[in-house]
Parts: sequence; C-alpha cells; structure tokens
Amino acid sequence: AIDISKLRDQTGYVTLDIGYKNTGATKSAITFLDGEQGILKYRGYPIEQLAEKSSFIEVAYLLIYGELPTEEKLKAFQYELSRHTLVHEDMKKFFDGFPSKSHPMGQLSSLVSALSAFYPESLKPSQTNEELNQSIIKMIAKMATVVSWIYKKSLGHPVIYPQNKYDYVTNFLHMTFGQRTEEVTIDPVVIDAMNKLLILHADHEQNCSASTVRIVGSSDSNIYASVSAGISALWGPLHGGANQAVIEMLEKIKEDGGDTDKWIAKAKDKNDPFRLMGFGHRVYKNFDPRAKIIKKACDDILEKLGINDEVLEIAKKLEEVALKDPYFVERKLYPNVDFYSGIIYRALGFPTDMFTVLFALGRLPGWIAQWKEMKENKEPIGRPRQIYVGATSKDYVEIANR
Ligand code: ACO
Repeated sequence: AIDISKLRDQTGYVTLDIGYKNTGATKSAITFLDGEQGILKYRGYPIEQLAEKSSFIEVAYLLIYGELPTEEKLKAFQYELSRHTLVHEDMKKFFDGFPSKSHPMGQLSSLVSALSAFYPESLKPSQTNEELNQSIIKMIAKMATVVSWIYKKSLGHPVIYPQNKYDYVTNFLHMTFGQRTEEVTIDPVVIDAMNKLLILHADHEQNCSASTVRIVGSSDSNIYASVSAGISALWGPLHGGANQAVIEMLEKIKEDGGDTDKWIAKAKDKNDPFRLMGFGHRVYKNFDPRAKIIKKACDDILEKLGINDEVLEIAKKLEEVALKDPYFVERKLYPNVDFYSGIIYRALGFPTDMFTVLFALGRLPGWIAQWKEMKENKEPIGRPRQIYVGATSKDYVEIANR
C-alpha cells in the first residue's frame, strides 16, 4: 500500500500555482463573485441593491454576522460602535512622531497595529464569542477615528473628537471635515456618496488583502495585527493603491495635453512597463459591477455638487477608446472599481494620498468577516508549499577562498 503521508512530502505532489490564480484557499459563505458575468453579491444580496438601499454599517453587519439586521439589532450595533469611537489619548503621541508628509497608508497600518498595545484583551488567542465581538466592535469604531486623525495631521490641524450623536459615516465625515470651534453641517449628498463608496469596497472575497488577513489570523494573531497586515497588502498599486495611481495617471495625461490615444498606445507597448491604471482585474473578465455603479454615482455627485472635472472627461475618453481597442477586448480588460472612485473622493475634498486609506475603511468589515469565518471554521495555519529550484548540495568555502 502507498503511504500517502510520505508522498505528500515529495515535490512531485505539490500543486504549483504561482499567484494562486486557480487555487481555492477556503470555503466561504461571505461574498459571491462571478467574474465572467460581472456579478457580485454579499451574503446573497446583489451589490446593486445594497449600494442603492443600504447603509455602510448595515452592510458591515450583514458581512460580519451573516444576515441583514432587524431595526433593533442595527440600533444596538450602532450604539455599541458609538461607545468605542474614542482611541486612547496616548495614541496621539504616535501621530506626533510621523513626518507630516508621510504616506497615510504607512501611518494607518502602524497605528492599527499599535491599537493592540492599548487593547490587550484582544491578544487572547481563544476569545469567547462576547470577547471576540468586543474586539470587532472596537476595531470598526476606532478605525474611523484613526483615519480622520491621519487626515487632520496631514493638514497640521487639531484632531476632532468623535460625537456619539452621529451615525458612523456622518461621524467620520464630521471628524474629517469638521472644525473644533464650530459645528459644520455635512451635505447629505456627501454622506450618501460616502456610504455608497464604502459599501462597494466592503468585501471582495479572497483578494490579496483578505487572503493576507486570513493567513495572518490563521496563526492566531490578534485582530489588529491581522487587519494591519491587510492594510499593508492593500497599499500596493496593483491592489488598493490603484485608486491613487488612477488619478495621478489622469492628471499626467491632462498635463500632457489630454491625448488619450498616445497613452493607450503606451499601455499596449510590451517594452513599456506602463499599464492603464484602473483597468483589468484578476477575476473580472467582464465589466466590474462596482465600476458601473460608481460611474453613475460619479456623474450624479459631480452634478449635485456643481463640479466640472476635466479629469473625468479624460477618464471617459480613455474608457471609450479602450473598450473598442482589440488589445483590451481580447484580454478582457475593463475598468475596475478604482477607475472612478478617485474622482468621487476628489470631489468630496480628499487629497489623493488619502484614497487608499478610504478603501481600507470600506474594506474593514470584509476583512473582519473573513477573519471571523476563518476562526469559526477552525482553519489550520496557512502555509503554502514550494517547488525548490536552488542548488542541491554545496560545501562551505572559507571566505578567503571564494
Ligand atoms: N494595462 C495594460 N495591459 C494590461 C493591464 C493594464 N491595466 N492589465 C493587464 N494587462 C495585460 C498584461 O500585460 C497581460 O498581457 P499579455 O497577456 O500580453 O502578457 C494581460 O493583460 C493579462 O494581465 P496579467 O497581469 O497577467 O493579469 P493579472 O490577473 O495578473 O493582473 C491586475 C490583474 C493586477 C489588476 C492587472 O490588470 C493590472 O495591473 N491592472 C492595473 C492596476 C489596477 O488597476 N489594479 C486594481 C485592481 S482592482 C483592486 O484591487 C480593487
């Protein structure tokens, strides 16, 4: 009989799938995605319905706890969140230490990791359901405060403290755009746009950052360490960093005279490393359904706020040309969620280097849902294999003889 345990250790029995392009790492009941048909559902609910009818916090509840909350449960969730929005005063010392122009994503991943020092009860590897729930609530509640304080720090402005009377998104906008001395009224159009953007980013199954959160959490790391790792994964321009890269690209095209054909040719040139930012997706080989919703929201918001953005015109022209170009058609490269999100963030008044941080704020419930599911499923520690291709055997050579 064959001893399977011995066979497993031989490289011939390892599946090689670099970048995990076709390897399922888990069974998940959170998000359904059909990249061929452009379908996205959270817990069975179509993203189009959630973006239109729901609020970010309701969607967070749905992703984390598996079902849409009753009115009573939603109220209790919001109440719990509002009780934990303050971060420890000593956390402010970290803000003082960062250079004022340091990238907000670097600050965010460090600050989220630092939260573990202030809330050590989250470090227990096996928490009771109640303890786990408290860790989740604290993580969500404090994230909005940390994100808005990073923004205030970039301006050199004093931080604004959270106010329990506001819902989560309004509180975030209040801490971001509010003043210390006077009450500012946040335009409902802005609150609505922010909810929509956060909902659209809330989860996307086993992407680079969610897989990172799961794999870090699989070693029983705490929620702050796991989310901080997810933030680091999201930072890269091939993932969440694309929203910043899109606006920078569109600005460059504008400064260059707005010749979209020239930039499309550059993206197609295999000797040029330039890629059309905001185009293409590992899973969507059809229109990203989130991009469709965002494109429409973008038009609506700019109109309602009375903003005329030349960069939006360039984006539309690029999309029009690319969608007809055989290079993009054959490779099924469509605009993704990041192609238009930056234009909305800009219209709402956020600086470019805050865009990926806003993505992180939106993706947080997804990361938490993935982390919680991984724990509930009692998944083993994540540990991929390799095919070793290095030298097989060498004898040590004294340094003088090398
Ligand atoms: N511009 C030009 N060519 C592209 C682009 C692009 N944006 N994206 C892919 N291609 C080409 C590749 O050069 C490759 O061509 P080839 O077959 O001739 O070699 C082919 O399309 C397939 O591309 P891969 O890189 O193999 O696809 P992969 O699934 O690995 O990458 C990715 C997906 C990373 C998103 C890629 O499309 C990309 O770099 N896009 C730009 C960055 C971006 O917008 N990222 C955000 C993703 S969405 C998100 O994270 C929320």
